[in-house]
Amino acid sequence: MKTGFGSDNHSGVHPEIFKAMAEVNVGHEPSYGTDEISRRALKIFEKHFGAGSETHFVFNGTAANVLALGSLVQSHHAIFASVFSHLSNDECGAPEKWLGCKIINLPSKDGKIKVSDMQAHLIRKGDQHCSQPHAISVTQPTEYGTLYSIDELKEIAAFAKQNNLLLHMDGTRLYNAAVALGVDLYTLTGAIGIDVLSLGGTKNGLMFGEAIVFFNKELARDFKYRRKQALQLPSKTRFIAAQFERFLGSDLWREIARHSLEMAQLLRGELEGVSGIEITQKTQSNAVFAKIPKAFVSPLREQGFFYVWDELTFEIRLMTTYDTQKEDVLAFANKAKELAKMPTAAKSGDLK
Ligand SMILES: Cc1ncc(COP(=O)(O)O)c(C=O)c1O
Repeated sequence: MKTGFGSDNHSGVHPEIFKAMAEVNVGHEPSYGTDEISRRALKIFEKHFGAGSETHFVFNGTAANVLALGSLVQSHHAIFASVFSHLSNDECGAPEKWLGCKIINLPSKDGKIKVSDMQAHLIRKGDQHCSQPHAISVTQPTEYGTLYSIDELKEIAAFAKQNNLLLHMDGTRLYNAAVALGVDLYTLTGAIGIDVLSLGGTKNGLMFGEAIVFFNKELARDFKYRRKQALQLPSKTRFIAAQFERFLGSDLWREIARHSLEMAQLLRGELEGVSGIEITQKTQSNAVFAKIPKAFVSPLREQGFFYVWDELTFEIRLMTTYDTQKEDVLAFANKAKELAKMPTAAKSGDLK
């Protein structure tokens, strides 16, 4: 399939990451995270997230979310999350199954949640008939590609502290947020008061592997047992570790994020003002959301695949990644401009 805008999951493995994996593909190493490469990688995590942090690897993002939140809640608890959050919508009920607790879906227009919407749910604190809110999950960047500002995150963290709630961040694409806001990874996480972070790898150029970063070691106390029970203890851990070592031990994470952001801005700029196309969200990371006429979908998909995010409104999501080329963006936008010259009735999909 040619390069498209379907997802940063659709791209391959960044060549530097592949090289790093090949370099550790020699000889024997102890397994289950007891190898030298894992030790080196964990030191790099400490450099980014502080000596008081503790990091563990898992295979995928859903497991990272479930296991991270599992260190915060029990089954009588409730978790606040955006109605658009991945954990509510796209994890097939994994958090509910594994944690047994309730997720309170908060209203949102742009993927972000607000303190005012959580407040009302605290009214039944202590009521034995009601799941007790105990954690908040924020996604940065959000599923809509928007960003919380540092002040917005601080407000949520302060609310969490005042109300004895623990704070989780789904940072599947955190690097894009850090580069867009011009800050380091710690400023967006530990410094704000995040208790546990799901940190992505696969969406950012790795072959597989995600990390869970605890900012409070006490919360990580039984993690190794829970991870094994949840079938997420990698045996040849060196291959996840080597990927993160190259990615976070150099400027590669910044370069990939910078390029993805640039391509998203170019794409947005090219589509803005095209007749029939309405950009629906701020473009603050590597995704562009837009409503397009139904009749554009098939011909545009021939130019570059994308997902229709909302089948009712024909809002689409276009995602850029490390290997998105300027030429791909321009060819896609030119196709959209060409389609925009169609007569109005044809654009609406009424004519064949
Ligand atoms: C915001 C967010 N969180 C978590 C995940 C879960 O990742 P995985 O598909 O590896 O389980 C995804 C995947 O697309 C995601 O976009």
